[in-house]
Amino acid sequence: MALARRDFLKAVGGASVAGSLVGYATPAAAAMPAALAFGFTDDNVPMNAANLCPMPSSVVTAHARYAQALDLSLSTASRAGVEALKEDARSRVAAMLGTSADEIAIVRNTSEANNTIVQGMPLAEGDEVVLWDQNHPSNDVAWEVQASRLGATVRRFSVPTDTGSIDEVVDLFVAAVGDKTKVVSFTHISNITGFRLPAAEICAAVRKRKGDIHIHVDGAQTWGAVDIDLGAIEADSFSGSAHKWFMGPREVGILYVRERHIDSIWPNVVSIPWGRTKDDAPTGARKFDALGQRDDAAVAALADTAGFHEAMTPAGIEERSMMIANRLREGLQDLNVKFVSTANPAFTSSIVILSAPRENSRQIVEQVYDNAGVQAAATGGLRMSPHVYNTADHVDRVIAAVKKSRALLS
Ligand SMILES: Cc1ncc(COP(=O)(O)O)c(C=O)c1O
Repeated sequence: MALARRDFLKAVGGASVAGSLVGYATPAAAAMPAALAFGFTDDNVPMNAANLCPMPSSVVTAHARYAQALDLSLSTASRAGVEALKEDARSRVAAMLGTSADEIAIVRNTSEANNTIVQGMPLAEGDEVVLWDQNHPSNDVAWEVQASRLGATVRRFSVPTDTGSIDEVVDLFVAAVGDKTKVVSFTHISNITGFRLPAAEICAAVRKRKGDIHIHVDGAQTWGAVDIDLGAIEADSFSGSAHKWFMGPREVGILYVRERHIDSIWPNVVSIPWGRTKDDAPTGARKFDALGQRDDAAVAALADTAGFHEAMTPAGIEERSMMIANRLREGLQDLNVKFVSTANPAFTSSIVILSAPRENSRQIVEQVYDNAGVQAAATGGLRMSPHVYNTADHVDRVIAAVKKSRALLS
């Protein structure tokens, strides 16, 4: 949702209290401000959600509490108490994504989730996998490795970032599908351009073109940033990392697999809680998260992170994140600098990227950090990915820092 800069200012009026959302005029913030606080300081502000997010302080505390509980007592009761939160997390994450808990596996990250689909997909010789050429390696080269193992083929295609309309994007996807296509896999929001694909429209059109295609959506840049209803999108699987936009524990991720496909996808790792025979699999998508001993405290803290999202609501988080990103986009546009990310509101996301020569991008990230106290990234240029914990002040400091370093940009 695009909101003008002045609307942003109205909404976040007093929000320059760094590291805190206390000033945000949202019902969630008003109801539970302490639970919405983050621990970072004003001179060291993260703006790199596309890579890694801080956890809210309430989640940091909960995570430490679970870890401590386990270290104080490894009794059955103590362990069961922490482990039980995994199912709590699963149900709450599923509810927010519009799926059933049985369709959600709690894995370690998007790379693992993507590879579960890549390696578990029953592909045969001659089958074709169609990939958007902006996919992350775990959803790109991973398919190529698997295809060469099985004698399948990979076809990549492009969507120019200056594409004008959703229909044009959808047509490019449909045109890429052939009679041998068995899988279409794409990143919902590109980490290298910030381009947001119209996932629902693509899935519906691809499904219409060929009914037996498995559509996998990499949601690494979506989950926790966008209010997505997987029940309403005809994707067959979807992946995400809690440590990115979901602002959750590190090395915790999710894999959604639509119920009708769970039986046909092979698990990569088989361990407890499988039973003694191959038919004794854990229920539903849990068969994909039987990874042996886990960091149970981190997995449990996913439930607390879900609580944070419930309090702010996924729609509220998306709106706020986009408001902040739009302020940044508009402020940078005023500088007349060259963008990698699109300005077309049909495809914008909270990832804003400026074009920078490869040899300069690290230096400009350093200068922005030195001058603004804000950490951006050198992915695809100068990449800034603000989230709900960023304020108008952070954005304005970044714009001023970019202005100062503009000679390093393309
Ligand atoms: C689109 C996309 N997919 C997958 C990944 C891998 O995420 P992780 O390192 O959490 O497995 C990333 C990481 O940036 C990404 O941007």
